[in-house]
Amino acid sequence: MIILCRCSPIRQILRRCHRQAVENSSNKANLTAYLGKWPEKEQQEFRQHMRIITDFISETEEQQLHEEIEPYISRLRYEFDHWDDAIHGFRETERKKWFPQNREILERVRQVAFDGAIMPYVHILDLAPDGVIKAHVDSTRYCGTTISGISLLSDSVMRLVRTDAQRYQQKSSGTAATEPESESESESKGSEPDAAYRHQPKASLENNFYADLLLPRRSLYIMSHTARYNFTHEILAKEQSEFQGTLVPKTRRISIICRNEP
Ligand code: OGA
Ligand code: MN
Repeated sequence: MIILCRCSPIRQILRRCHRQAVENSSNKANLTAYLGKWPEKEQQEFRQHMRIITDFISETEEQQLHEEIEPYISRLRYEFDHWDDAIHGFRETERKKWFPQNREILERVRQVAFDGAIMPYVHILDLAPDGVIKAHVDSTRYCGTTISGISLLSDSVMRLVRTDAQRYQQKSSGTAATEPESESESESKGSEPDAAYRHQPKASLENNFYADLLLPRRSLYIMSHTARYNFTHEILAKEQSEFQGTLVPKTRRISIICRNEP
């Protein structure tokens, strides 16, 4: 039996949009696992300040981005030498001029994730299958309120662990940031450039609260304010790459990271 739908096409579209919105929001909830005892207010803030948009780019766009990046990045060597550094098993570059179709994607990132401009140099980080981004906070000297990342080639799990409140809070423009000045204070023993960009404060999982986020390939995450200042972030190594008890296979992963000015 054929059931004819008497709804107008617009109604059908609206219904589809609504269904999509419901799917997206439940989908979004499923991508974050809250662990430990979260104060209600902290969790509310976190929800606003750590967002994941699935399928932010299409497969074609992923390929376009990869094709632009690959010739440059493949000439670099993966760095595995400095175990103390925040990132292990990676190569990275920065890019200012992009092919027009990729520039469009970055403009979309800017519109969705940032109030104003993004820094002209976009950071590209290629993490080897064995690579790991250890828990760190991006320096407030080089990076403002918001950090966004598009994930290419692989799913991964990002963990955000609560660290000292306010320690990394950015002061209003014109005044110096409050982040720790010295190496010992920041717990960072890595080589200079990495230590300056990424601080590695101690943030234990015990008696603490944290969140695991499933970052699907081709998603965009937007980490701002509370999530950016009061939590460390890390990408779990492939052996630890689990989300809610299920292994999330992590292969080579390229991230395209936009930040705003301090
Ligand atoms: C970083 C960082 C996250 C990512 O480079 O400081 O945290 O998504 N990268 O690659
Ligand atoms: Mn970082």
